Amino acid sequence: MEKHIIFASAMIFLLAMAPVYGQYYSETITPPPRQERMTRLHFFLHDILSGQNPSAVMISRPNITGSSISFGSLFAIDDPLTVGPEPTSEIIGNAQGMYVSSSRDPAMFTAVMYADFAFTSGRFNGSSFSLFSRNPSSPPVRELAIVGGRGAFRMASGFAFIRNSFLNLTTGDTIVEFNVTLYHY
Ligand SMILES: *[C@@H]1O[C@H](CO)[C@@H](O)[C@H](O)[C@H]1NC(C)=O
Ligand SMILES: *[C@@H]1O[C@H](CO)[C@@H](O)[C@H](O)[C@H]1NC(C)=O
Ligand SMILES: *[C@@H]1O[C@H](CO)[C@@H](O)[C@H](O)[C@H]1NC(C)=O
Ligand SMILES: *[C@@H]1O[C@H](CO)[C@@H](O)[C@H](O)[C@H]1NC(C)=O
Repeated sequence: MEKHIIFASAMIFLLAMAPVYGQYYSETITPPPRQERMTRLHFFLHDILSGQNPSAVMISRPNITGSSISFGSLFAIDDPLTVGPEPTSEIIGNAQGMYVSSSRDPAMFTAVMYADFAFTSGRFNGSSFSLFSRNPSSPPVRELAIVGGRGAFRMASGFAFIRNSFLNLTTGDTIVEFNVTLYHY
């Protein structure tokens, strides 16, 4: 008898619990005002296609004749971010994501970049910002859009001014200087 009661109450408990998992939930409130902050970052990105341990690899290209960077070529990246422009400079993070060659004009190489720039040391260790922007090969200084972030950079938006610090036209290896301005909370 007692067992039945325990079983029955267990069933009622489970039945009472079960619908919670399937419940649609929504709430809209006015959040308290927050103080916006601005952070500036300066570093170098190393996009290395050559050698035994490249940081950028082609993952797809269209079946048409043309160079390996012609329209439609897609690359995956895990590019180190460093303090200085030298390949041996201290690593402070990495940019992981993709870029795709996006211009049909062969004279105007452009890559649209989709990458998460994460920091692995210092104040912003564990935080990252998300960049989503086109990056043309000219002018020398380009502006890229930053559309979000994680950790200290949650809800960030901002922009980056970048310039090639080194480019090997044979290999495609590039070292790029970044001046980033982030608005976040
Ligand atoms: C690439 O295109 C050529 C010419 O259209 C075709 O013969 C070949 O089968 C294609 N290769 C692949 C992998 O689709
Ligand atoms: C960065 O954070 C990770 C994870 O919390 C930690 O293991 C690592 O030691 C930190 N690195 C530095 C340089 O602070
Ligand atoms: C980044 O900022 C530094 C310091 O203001 C400046 O010397 C450098 O030219 C800037 N680089 C870019 C790509 O904006
Ligand atoms: C570019 O890469 C090629 C092939 O590795 C190398 O022979 C050449 O010296 C490099 N040029 C520069 C400026 O680093």
